[in-house]
Amino acid sequence: MLSKIFNLNIFRWDAGPKSIDGIWAPWWYQSVHKSTCFKPGRKYPAPFPFSLYDLLEQSLPLYNILRRHVKQRASLRKSTLPIPDLPVPENEKLLAWVGDEIVPRESAKVSVFDSVVQGGDSVWEGLRIYNGKIFKLEEHLDRMFDSAKALAFNNVPTREEIKAAIFTTLNRNGMFDNTHIRLSLTRGKKVTSGMSPAFNLYGCTLIVLAEWKPPVYDNTKGITLVTATTRRNSPNNLDSKIHHNNLLNNILAKIEGNNANADDAIMLDKDGYVSETNATNIFLVKKGHVLTPHADYCLPGITRATVMDLVVKEKFPLVERRISLSEFHTADEVWTTGTMGELSPVVKIDGRPVGDGQVGPVTRHLQNAYKKLTEESGVPIPTSVSS
Ligand SMILES: Cc1ncc(COP(=O)(O)O)c(C=O)c1O
Repeated sequence: MLSKIFNLNIFRWDAGPKSIDGIWAPWWYQSVHKSTCFKPGRKYPAPFPFSLYDLLEQSLPLYNILRRHVKQRASLRKSTLPIPDLPVPENEKLLAWVGDEIVPRESAKVSVFDSVVQGGDSVWEGLRIYNGKIFKLEEHLDRMFDSAKALAFNNVPTREEIKAAIFTTLNRNGMFDNTHIRLSLTRGKKVTSGMSPAFNLYGCTLIVLAEWKPPVYDNTKGITLVTATTRRNSPNNLDSKIHHNNLLNNILAKIEGNNANADDAIMLDKDGYVSETNATNIFLVKKGHVLTPHADYCLPGITRATVMDLVVKEKFPLVERRISLSEFHTADEVWTTGTMGELSPVVKIDGRPVGDGQVGPVTRHLQNAYKKLTEESGVPIPTSVSS
C-alpha cells in the first residue's frame, strides 16, 4: 500500500541494532537487523480463476479419462513396480454403486469430505451370492442397521432402498453366483473436515461393491493360523458388536499373520482367551464336543450363528464359553467361519499340527451341511429392476 503512495526505494539504512531499539529487539528484530532497505511483499501464485469453476466441474471428468489413459501408458513404461495382477481378472471391469449412482470401477470414489476418509466412520457387511440368491440378506441388513444405530448415524437409507441398490448393482454386473458384496454405509459427506457428526448434513453414503470372488481360503486342504500379540478390542474401548470400518485392530493382527506366512492370525482378548481371528470366528472340536468362544470380544458373525445352528441340528453337543489358547493347541479339529471364506478347516496353529494335521470328520460334515444350506436358502435376486 505504502509503495503506491511513496517511492520506498529512496530509503536505505545500515544493518545491525539501533540505539532506539527496545529491550526485546534481540528476539523480535532479528530479520529487521539483517535488512538495509524495504523489500517487495511476498508473492503467492494466482489461485484457480473461480469464475471458471462450473466449467471445470463439467470438463474435468472427460479430461481425467484422457489423463488416466496417458498416465497408464507412461507409467507402464516408467514404473519400477510390477503391474499388479487382480486376484480375479474379470473384476477389472465392474460397476459399483456409490451414493445414488452406479459407476465404473475407476470412477467409483467417495468425497474427500466423506466420514470414512475423515475418521473410518462407517459400517459394513460382507454378503455372498449363491445360485441367484443372497445368503442371509436380512440378517446382514439387521446387523448393518444395528451398527449404524449404535454409532448414531442420521438419515440412514431404508432397507428397501439398500436392497434396491444391491439388486441393481448385481443385475448391471450380471452377477448371480460366485460373487461377494462389500456393502458399506458411511456416516456420509461432511460440510467441512473434522470428526464431529454435527458436520454430517448430507446423509449417509451407501457403497455396493460386488466382485467375482470364490471363497478366499483353501477349504479343501485347510489353512494355518498364528497367534497375534495384538489383542482384540474390548467392549471397554470399541465394541466388536459394531461392525465398523475402523479395522486397524484387525489389520495389525493380519500383518503379524502375513509376516509369519500364515493365512490369518488368532486374536486373544485382554485376559488371554481366544476371541476370533482377524477376519473370522473360530470353533474347535474336542472329544466330539464343538466349542466356540462367547461373542464378548469377537464379532457375532452371521456364519458363526448359522454354523452353531447346524452343529445343534446335526446333533453335536455345542458349548459356548471362554476358551484358552492351549485348548486350541490340543484340539482334535479347528475351523474358522466367515461369509468371505465360509467354513475353513485349520490344520496348523503356531506351527503345531491341529489333531493329526488333516481336515477332521466333524469339519467335513459341517462343511457339507453349510454348502447344502447355501444352495437351498437365500433371498432371490429380482431380475426386473428399475434403472
Ligand atoms: C473380525 C471378523 N470376525 C468374523 C467375521 C465373520 O462374520 P460373518 O460370518 O458375519 O461374515 C468377520 C466378517 O466381517 C470379521 O470381520
